[in-house]
Amino acid sequence: MYEELALLELAIWFGLPAWIANSTPVLGGGGSAIDGGRFYSDGRRILGDGKTIRGFIVGVIFGILVGIGQMFAAPYLHPILAQFVTVTPAMELVLYAQVPVAVLLSVGALTGDIVGSFIKRRIDVKSGDPSPFMDQLGFIIMALIFAYPLIQPGPIFIVILVLMTLGIHWISNALVYLLGLKKNPW
Ligand code: CTP
Ligand code: MG
Repeated sequence: MYEELALLELAIWFGLPAWIANSTPVLGGGGSAIDGGRFYSDGRRILGDGKTIRGFIVGVIFGILVGIGQMFAAPYLHPILAQFVTVTPAMELVLYAQVPVAVLLSVGALTGDIVGSFIKRRIDVKSGDPSPFMDQLGFIIMALIFAYPLIQPGPIFIVILVLMTLGIHWISNALVYLLGLKKNPW
């Protein structure tokens, strides 16, 4: 039981920079679109106005800030975890490697988000319109791939992260929508 809880806690800890990086661009978006307003050969925008340079930078900065916060918090979390489970070297890696991991997770998350938009435009989904799996999983999968050189999560860890991402994405989007920052609740 404690082992499962520790795993869940570590999964949340690990995923935090990616989730924050993916959900904060909306706070600072605007300005130049990453695709510079250009069109692809199919006549549709390469990425669309929903992907801006400022939004990308804001997301990466917030994601890294989370990692820095985690760096300071790790020495406090470690003994708490150790009260309940044996903290393995793999767990210590997740606990303490968070700044470099946060950089990779954040850049990866926003890259996955861009790839998702590129695919959405190609299949003629308009900017802001939903594309269920792309919107919710593209960023976390790419974040995991980017962080892979530093941390290779096991299958259970990945399943937890993916399931949590589906839940969190839904809740955070609903929140952002309710705050009036976004025109759709997805
Ligand atoms: N945003 C941004 N820059 C990014 C990512 C997001 O400025 N690199 C901002 C935009 O204002 C965007 C909002 O965050 O409208 C929500 O992000 P997202 O849902 O990813 O974009 P969509 O508008 O839905 O566009 P798309 O259909 O291309 O995903
Ligand atoms: Mg969207």
